[in-house]
Amino acid sequence: MIINYAHRGASGTYPENTMLSFEKAFELGASGIETDVQMTSDGVLVLIHDERVDRTTDRIGFVKDYTYNDIRKLDAGSWLSDEFQNQRIPSFEELLIFMKGNNLFLNLELKSNIIQYPYIEKKVIETIYKYDMADRTILSSFNHYSMVKCKEIDKNIKIGLLYMSGLYRPEHYAKFVGAEALHPYFYSLNEEIIRGIKSEGILINTFTVNDEKYMEMFIDSGIDGIITNYPEKLYKLLGV
Ligand code: G3P
Ligand code: MG
Repeated sequence: MIINYAHRGASGTYPENTMLSFEKAFELGASGIETDVQMTSDGVLVLIHDERVDRTTDRIGFVKDYTYNDIRKLDAGSWLSDEFQNQRIPSFEELLIFMKGNNLFLNLELKSNIIQYPYIEKKVIETIYKYDMADRTILSSFNHYSMVKCKEIDKNIKIGLLYMSGLYRPEHYAKFVGAEALHPYFYSLNEEIIRGIKSEGILINTFTVNDEKYMEMFIDSGIDGIITNYPEKLYKLLGV
């Protein structure tokens, strides 16, 4: 079974990383959600891709400089279209409450590679257990130190290592780090690399595949998850 991860929700059509984009992803046939977590000045985990709010809201500044109360006042939808103007930056807990009502998988990407948010790994893991979601969750990050920290906190939490390209024998690296999965940029994969990774029993969840031609190629290649802005396209191809 290939997991159809909606990248930042159904972000090809709806404002990324909003409850609307997550809910629509579910309706459109996604079987998983990929989203990005950062932290407010008062330590609340919130879902937004950039370290700054500038690109996807009506205000400017770093997420880390807003309190949760203040960041909730921002409009996280109108940057895409006026019809989305009441969308807010969700808290991680808000997403988990939604996910308790369905069977979606979660790929939570810790944005711990630019800003070192204090104790973000611990907070994320505690929150996942609070909602009893560990079985359906895989954490990922471009910061592999952060992933190792997660494993040290809880050896049962699953981790995936994000990378863009050029890792030699990535399956060996994944084993060395203790990761269950690799999360490569899709251009860095070919049949031989996929075979190598699979031969060591490591999962592959690749990003961000928006073109049907590549989706078909990856469906045939036997990888485990495809992260896409268009879960509806992938849903059709998977024929589920
Ligand atoms: O997790 C896959 C993908 O989201 C990684 O890159 O920049 O879209 O968060 P980015
Ligand atoms: Mg991401």
